[in-house]
Amino acid sequence: MDKKHFPVVNDISFKWSGQVMEHIDALAYIGKKQGDDNMYVITRDSGNGITHGTLGGMIIKDIITGKDNPWIDIYSPSRISLKAKGIFLKEAGNMTAQYLDWFKESDIKNVKDLQPGQGAIVAEGFKKIAAYCDEENNLHVCTAVCPHLGAILQWNAEEKTFDCPMHGSRFTVDGIVINCPAISDLKK
Ligand code: FES
Repeated sequence: MDKKHFPVVNDISFKWSGQVMEHIDALAYIGKKQGDDNMYVITRDSGNGITHGTLGGMIIKDIITGKDNPWIDIYSPSRISLKAKGIFLKEAGNMTAQYLDWFKESDIKNVKDLQPGQGAIVAEGFKKIAAYCDEENNLHVCTAVCPHLGAILQWNAEEKTFDCPMHGSRFTVDGIVINCPAISDLKK
């Protein structure tokens, strides 16, 4: 946000950010849940919950009343497209490649080189450390190994978080988990 687009704004009091998870074919799942005759789902909203809520009401009503609707197949939770399969395989390869970070050099050589407000991944032998130096020069140190499936985290200087490149888990500078799929904090 800037003065050019919002000239009436004087001070910015609060800032926030959100992460939108995009799925393989970028479309929601709306319709009959696989293997269940009386259960319907509207999911994979990816930031479009209000749109999908409306769309879902129309699609699911048509499924229940037996009315034709071309969107039923498009949004069907049981669809599998060839394109989606290809993207899935590519992403699976990309995820596996993230494990190479175990052999990568440190962002910095020594935690003492960190400036106030800066974080980094530091390697001590085969140990990977997520280190952050706060504005008062206190050091915060956790393991840089993601508790989900063991990928090495990366420092996100913009948000001041440690993020996992594998499936998107995120942690505060003190190692508190703030985004799934990881469900536990980083070990100190
Ligand atoms: S390994 Fe980190 S989120 Fe899966």
